[in-house]
Amino acid sequence: MNEVLQSILSRRSCKKFKPDMVPQELIDQITEAGLYAPNFMGKQSPVILAVTDKETRDMLSRLNRKYDPFKREDPFYGAPVVLVVIAPKEIPARVYDGSLVMGNMLLAAHALGIGSCWIHRAKETFEDPEGKALLASLGLEGEFEGIGNCVLGYPDMEKKEAPPRRENRLFKI
Ligand SMILES: Cc1cc2nc3c(=O)[nH]c(=O)nc-3n(C[C@H](O)[C@H](O)[C@H](O)COP(=O)(O)O)c2cc1C
Repeated sequence: MNEVLQSILSRRSCKKFKPDMVPQELIDQITEAGLYAPNFMGKQSPVILAVTDKETRDMLSRLNRKYDPFKREDPFYGAPVVLVVIAPKEIPARVYDGSLVMGNMLLAAHALGIGSCWIHRAKETFEDPEGKALLASLGLEGEFEGIGNCVLGYPDMEKKEAPPRRENRLFKI
């Protein structure tokens, strides 16, 4: 089977990570894949925060937990890296744009042998004063909406087969 299609069909979310750091060159390839996602009117508006600094990673996990209905101990499952996607509020298609960046990065990670998962609540994170302060510290001006957190690391769990696809989700006309 075509290699790209094989990656798409075999990717699964990882929900338990080893603490080992992902090499920077792999992180760079994953974020580059994100930056090449299709985007509304060619504006390339989504921004990625590639977080490997433990203190910032832990702060984002703590903020995420604040809004997590399940109050997971660490909503990032121990992953040492979080790629946060944000997009300017002035772009009407920001959620579509940002979601494509997320999708590219999840697939790129898998293609490179790195575990990944989309973790929600990026929106709430950057509505919170602590999240806003992080953006301000980076000199990011204007209003941004958090789209998603792509956590990365080496899996510390067995990969399960993808469940069969539900029926009646494809109509050939
Ligand atoms: C928009 C979105 C939000 C998600 N949020 C979370 C989350 O907060 N925590 C989590 O453990 N998984 C989250 N996931 C991962 C899903 O649980 C996972 O993709 C789904 O169960 C299908 O499994 P698979 O990715 O292994 O195919 C999210 C996925 C998407 C697309």
